[in-house]
Amino acid sequence: MPIQTTEKIWHNGNLIPWEKATIHVMSHVIHYGSSVFEGIRCYGQPQGSAVFRLPEHMQRLLDSAKIYRMDLPFTLEELCAGVVDTIEANGVAPCYIRPIALRGYGEIGVSPKGAPVEVYIANFPWGKYLAAHGGADVCISSWNRLAPNTMPALAKAGANYMSSQLIRMEAEINGYQEGIALDVNGLVSEGSGENVFIVRNGVLFTPPLANSALSGITRDSVLTIARHLGLTVTEQALPRELLYIADEVFFTGTAAEVQAIRSIDRIQIADGKPGEITKKIADEFYGIANGLKPDRFGWLTPVKVDASETVTA
Ligand SMILES: Cc1ncc(COP(=O)(O)O)c(C=O)c1O
Repeated sequence: MPIQTTEKIWHNGNLIPWEKATIHVMSHVIHYGSSVFEGIRCYGQPQGSAVFRLPEHMQRLLDSAKIYRMDLPFTLEELCAGVVDTIEANGVAPCYIRPIALRGYGEIGVSPKGAPVEVYIANFPWGKYLAAHGGADVCISSWNRLAPNTMPALAKAGANYMSSQLIRMEAEINGYQEGIALDVNGLVSEGSGENVFIVRNGVLFTPPLANSALSGITRDSVLTIARHLGLTVTEQALPRELLYIADEVFFTGTAAEVQAIRSIDRIQIADGKPGEITKKIADEFYGIANGLKPDRFGWLTPVKVDASETVTA
């Protein structure tokens, strides 16, 4: 998807023109992947727009930075305000928001001590990530997810997405929309940019974070919604073959939102249609995000931009 530019990007507390938000080729991040970032959505509401789970995303950015010993010179409140200011300055909603903290120009050795930390926040229009109305066709990747004690899977670091790229490219080359990676022990981990859920006999399952999965904000939202709907929810290790015989399988993620999966490795999941529980959860998720249902969990941060369109399930 080509990037649709907006006018301003937030850089270390100031709004600068989009085209001025550039870095030097010798910046540490270019050579060693030293960045942590977020992906957030702002949804259209009946009045104005709202960012979905903004503090939780920015807290994850701070957590990712902490894991990599990257001192961010901004508080959670300042970072959240930066997101709101950027969206309001650009007047673009609904949109996707990309905050990133990176190690800049000043040190070419691996140790990043002399490289300044810089923070940017951009926003731009972005529609569906996985264009799959009746459900996505996915595969199990031949690439395992990051093994524990190699790269920390709980940090949303730029470098982790070299692994994601391998998973996603392999899937696309083989005619699938997305790949699901197993962890180093062969247990279900996550998609290249999504968490995975299954439903079997009315119970909702998702792998625990110890299976090298990112602590997805949408994952948490779905767990919260499912409990609210009275479903039994279990975070437990899942063998690959349980995916094939599940009643329902779906992805969650800020980009993919709640996305039904209709086949895995060309094995059809149940009748190949989005299942009842997936639909119920998706309905509640999109209802809250789009301001059509009460914000019962306090997930929305309003921004003063009239939405040009409302993205729905
Ligand atoms: C590898 C990976 N797993 C899971 C997710 C889902 O996380 P979230 O729901 O916070 O977007 C993402 C997306 O950020 C991701 O990149």
